[in-house]
Amino acid sequence: MAKIWSKQTSVEVPHLDTTSSRMPWIRLTVLLLGTIILLHNYIIDHLTPQHPSRNPTITSPKCPQVDPLYPTSRTKELDDVDDYLRSDSFRNKSIQNLAGAVRIPTQSFDDLGAVGTDPRWEIFFSFADYLEETFPLVHATLQLEKVNTHALLYTWAGTDPSLKPTVLMAHQDVVPVPDSTVESWTHPPFSGHFDGTFIWGRGSSDCKNQLIGILEAVETLIQAGFSPRRTLVLSFGYDEEISGREGALKLSNALAKKYGHHGVALIIDEGAVNIENWGKSWAIPGVAEKGYVDVTVTVRMPGGHSSIPPKHNGIGVASELISLIEANPYEPYLDEENPYLSMLYCGAEHAPEFPKTLKKLLNKRESKLQTCSKKHGKDALAVEAAKEGLGIKYLFTTSVAIDLINGGAKANALPERTTFTVNHRINVGSNSKAIFKHITSLAAQSASKYNLTLTPFNGTELPSSITLRAHDTLLEPAPVTPTSSSQSVTPFEVLSGTTRALYSEDLLVAPGIMTGNTDTRYYWDLSEHIFRYGPGWDREQDGLGNIHTVDERIGVRGHVDGVRWFVGFLRNVDEAEL
Ligand SMILES: *[C@@H]1O[C@H](CO)[C@@H](O)[C@H](O)[C@H]1NC(C)=O
Ligand SMILES: *[C@@H]1O[C@H](CO)[C@@H](O)[C@H](O)[C@H]1NC(C)=O
Ligand SMILES: *[C@@H]1O[C@H](CO)[C@@H](O)[C@H](O)[C@H]1NC(C)=O
Ligand SMILES: [Zn+2]
Repeated sequence: MAKIWSKQTSVEVPHLDTTSSRMPWIRLTVLLLGTIILLHNYIIDHLTPQHPSRNPTITSPKCPQVDPLYPTSRTKELDDVDDYLRSDSFRNKSIQNLAGAVRIPTQSFDDLGAVGTDPRWEIFFSFADYLEETFPLVHATLQLEKVNTHALLYTWAGTDPSLKPTVLMAHQDVVPVPDSTVESWTHPPFSGHFDGTFIWGRGSSDCKNQLIGILEAVETLIQAGFSPRRTLVLSFGYDEEISGREGALKLSNALAKKYGHHGVALIIDEGAVNIENWGKSWAIPGVAEKGYVDVTVTVRMPGGHSSIPPKHNGIGVASELISLIEANPYEPYLDEENPYLSMLYCGAEHAPEFPKTLKKLLNKRESKLQTCSKKHGKDALAVEAAKEGLGIKYLFTTSVAIDLINGGAKANALPERTTFTVNHRINVGSNSKAIFKHITSLAAQSASKYNLTLTPFNGTELPSSITLRAHDTLLEPAPVTPTSSSQSVTPFEVLSGTTRALYSEDLLVAPGIMTGNTDTRYYWDLSEHIFRYGPGWDREQDGLGNIHTVDERIGVRGHVDGVRWFVGFLRNVDEAEL
């Protein structure tokens, strides 16, 4: 593998940099030209609809890739950092540091009581102590505030207070290991066992690797004499796996007080790792998250002795409604804002194994958009793209799963109250209102068929009724992080350039979307520029390293590359005019 951050040290001619510093202007010109062409077409398409000679060829690429980005502000010590991070001694040390973090079982249980009351939170004191011992320079240099007892908020004040800060996030907690699965682990779940390639244990890839990786990077930068212009904030919650209300919510309030609405330049949290797809390598930092809503449906019908039953009782009606819900799922739909659309454009433009049918449909969609034809009915491109697998389909389809059911009290009594809960992950371009409308219309069919009163979403439960209720965990789809701008360099471009510099110019960076939610759900107001990205990548390791299941583990190579990425990114973001 090529040297990365020290690349410029091998360049003998010191003024070579001028070409690359001119590059943004070239790019800006291209972008501006593209914008003018698009505007021109827009005017022709929309403002002069009778015009016969619409220019049909739009040449601006749909998948712009930025050049690899290297920091320009240099010192001997900073030039040596990448060699150090690639050394055996750093590798050994980082294995110890991550394994040590995994050995502290910071499990967050669903039934945890209040902080300060339930003793199971106290393990987080040990974790904070461990970080303090392990990263002495971080603790001597950054200001550390403890928010709501265990949330860790580090601030490295920049020399230029006019610059908005960077916020790096991770969570300290891990999902519990149920006693019943301990035996199934190849190495004990809190052993931090290192087998020569992988560090094993709960939290090793979700996401103590991210937390330790960030601290390794900052510790290394301090050691190399780096001092940021732009303030750096590290924000580590401690209950992400059980909704983040004690950690991330309180941290986001503290940050809002300090920096205000959109007062943060960008945020990076755990998220998507690099992948191989269609014959190409990809980084797909999450710029969007689907929404989330649980709806509980309650069917109330008269009770009575089961020896003289009506034709249908509450359980029967609930079952029929469940079947109806399953028979009327949401169709795949690619909103213009859905990042997966960008990924398709990137694939069509750059990936050798991109399916031809998809390419055809993509062109068709584009020409339709240009002629302003409103799409009706099915989204043919989305339906075809969904055939790539369920994991792909649900990047642009609202999911529906009935996950809980309850009804009846006794074998010989008719059920008076039957409930079931429907979990939805809301597609980009949709919202909770649309979900409520859909499920209400289905429930209305059952209600009218069985002469029951329908009381959707207003809190009233009547006898002989079907009631719908949304849980307060409701989350709309996240605002989509902008990726390009003709005005200036975007945080997405800094992230992209850093990633292509570290891994390869052959790697594509495309905006990604998350089907799950991270602690960033509480940070929307702080910045438009939120990324869910796990930058450490080990090509030999498949997927996310068994997160949330037995044998969670992380490849050390990927972990070390994650540290190198954070070092490069922090230097790049410190130089960027954001
Ligand atoms: C790193 O650890 C390996 C295995 O324990 C050991 O053989 C090697 O000498 C160590 N290298 C350094 C530089 O500490
Ligand atoms: C429907 O229910 C209402 C009261 O809940 C009742 O007055 C009415 O007779 C019922 N209609 C039928 C067709 O059962
Ligand atoms: C809810 O809806 C039901 C049925 O339409 C109605 O009888 C009831 O008054 C409503 N309750 C509230 C709080 O709006
Ligand atoms: Zn996580």
